[in-house]
Amino acid sequence: MTVHTRIRSLVARLRRAIAPESANDGVEFGVPQQFRRGAGRQNQRASVDSAVDMIGTIAKEIGVPDLADTRVLDIGCGVKFTQVLYGRNIPAKRYHGVDLDRRMIKFLASNVRDKRFSYRHISVYNEMYCRKGAPLTPNVDIGAAGQEFDLISLFSVFTHLAPRDFQAMLALTRKYVARDGHLIFTSFIDETVEGEFMDFVPGRPLLRAHYREEVIRKYATAANWSVNRIFRPPKQQHWVVCRPA
Ligand SMILES: C[S@@+](CC[C@H](N)C(=O)[O-])C[C@H]1O[C@@H](n2cnc3c(N)ncnc32)[C@H](O)[C@@H]1O
Repeated sequence: MTVHTRIRSLVARLRRAIAPESANDGVEFGVPQQFRRGAGRQNQRASVDSAVDMIGTIAKEIGVPDLADTRVLDIGCGVKFTQVLYGRNIPAKRYHGVDLDRRMIKFLASNVRDKRFSYRHISVYNEMYCRKGAPLTPNVDIGAAGQEFDLISLFSVFTHLAPRDFQAMLALTRKYVARDGHLIFTSFIDETVEGEFMDFVPGRPLLRAHYREEVIRKYATAANWSVNRIFRPPKQQHWVVCRPA
């Protein structure tokens, strides 16, 4: 079986896990548009479908059939994975979402009625998302003291981080990974960048933070991560898969 066939079969299995009669159908879960990000802003069903595919790719990357035995820490969580894992009853052992958006986190914490799920708002400075917060440090309280996670995900988050925060986030996440766990994040990898980093869109700070691959590898190594694999699914940002070094 080729890798693509395996992914297709995994995604098909996840789709079969979707119970049409579920009380928590992703669309019925009804996240207000103001809390949705990216393409999903306009088309919630397409966004949820794409998240199902992403979960399939993640499961394949970490070598499990689904996330039923996986404790997930999702930083810069938005609503996407909640819509899939909760909204469509796709298995997950535990899910802790962290984000800068106070109102969105409040919405999720009040509307997701499942003890496996928890949420935490943090207030840290980001030139694009939050201009009032304190600087990000590895010691920011993300509401998960003493816990460890099998999967730490940051989708479309490092894509908005300046070098200082990129490195702080790698150090922060390292504190929460289980011994056999994985970190998966996306990034704009761009070998035309001169120096380490380029803020790609003039006048829109951190809308697209571009990095050279060797810089990402250097930052990861410094934070005690080992980069397992970097790949780029069609029409997506690069995915970076790390294990604790
Ligand atoms: C483009 S959205 C992606 C949301 C979600 N991961 C997804 O794939 O749909 C980026 C999210 O990261 C959050 N974010 C940005 N910088 C952050 C930081 N330093 N700590 C936590 N969340 C952050 C933003 O508030 C925003 O919700």
